Amino acid sequence: MSRRNDLVPIHGNYHGYYSKRPFTEDRRLGLLPKDLFAGKRVLDVGCNEGLVTCQIGVSAPHIPRVWPALTGQPAEPAQSLAARKVVGVDIDEALVRAAWKRRRAVWSQQAPPDALCAPSNGDERAGTKRRRGASPEAARAPCADYFSASCEHMFGPLPVPAHTTRPDAFPHNVTFRAADWVAAEVAEDAEGYDVVVAFSISKWIHLNGGDEGLMRFFRRVHAVLRSGGVFVLEPQPWDTYGKAKRMDARLKETAKNLKIRPDDFPRILQEIGFGEADHRGETGEGGFHRPIDLYRKR
Ligand SMILES: C[S@@+](CC[C@H](N)C(=O)[O-])C[C@H]1O[C@@H](n2cnc3c(N)ncnc32)[C@H](O)[C@@H]1O
Repeated sequence: MSRRNDLVPIHGNYHGYYSKRPFTEDRRLGLLPKDLFAGKRVLDVGCNEGLVTCQIGVSAPHIPRVWPALTGQPAEPAQSLAARKVVGVDIDEALVRAAWKRRRAVWSQQAPPDALCAPSNGDERAGTKRRRGASPEAARAPCADYFSASCEHMFGPLPVPAHTTRPDAFPHNVTFRAADWVAAEVAEDAEGYDVVVAFSISKWIHLNGGDEGLMRFFRRVHAVLRSGGVFVLEPQPWDTYGKAKRMDARLKETAKNLKIRPDDFPRILQEIGFGEADHRGETGEGGFHRPIDLYRKR
């Protein structure tokens, strides 16, 4: 497994990745069918610091609204994805530790379900009172900053309750594991998943394990998915491989022998036992502009 002191992020194990993709609500998730995760068992392979994993596990109204404070835009509660269970796996142990911390931060910054509040006369302070005369929508809106990021910065995160009557609700429904998921299973795999998410990881698996490693990955995804389960793939285009392989002599060597190209993925996945690709569109800024594709296990 990759350790924190690895100098070159040859697995795409970037630290501070989400400061490069700094969206509170990941736009890639917005391209997916609204009910894809609700009540489902989900694996997020290559979870990095757990931003996407936590979003998939959070259910309304436990959702912070941070944009209004930053942008002055009208507030909309973030989409509730509400998976029953989400397992985030990453090859880099330090990233997995950061993911556990993020889970606690997300937990800390959420308004509890009964803390309904809305600003009164321009007063942006959080509280538990409803604005007099506010619309029912505004009165129902969760607190924007019940325990804000700055509170967390000053006082540390709120403790996660040790016991819960809702193991299938956030934060207890979100777990992280450190593993090279192409080579090793994690305990949760045994029960199978309804959805496997693989955002921006295929290139790293391909460059480290060659065509064989990539095929092993795709077959493993197929194997852990339950019948009718969905594989959500954000493949990096071939023209992004060049920069990545120059990081490391071994990756460069592996790249020389690659025969599979990302354009072949839909055909290969069908051969493995998935249905046709459902191209959901593309999103992301600059070099992160990539397609999001769904494949259903036949
Ligand atoms: C470029 S980041 C993408 C992070 C996240 N999926 C996203 O798109 O927001 C790729 C992540 O995959 C992880 N990774 C690469 N190979 C892996 C493997 N074989 N098993 C588990 N994680 C892996 C890296 O450590 C890194 O955190």
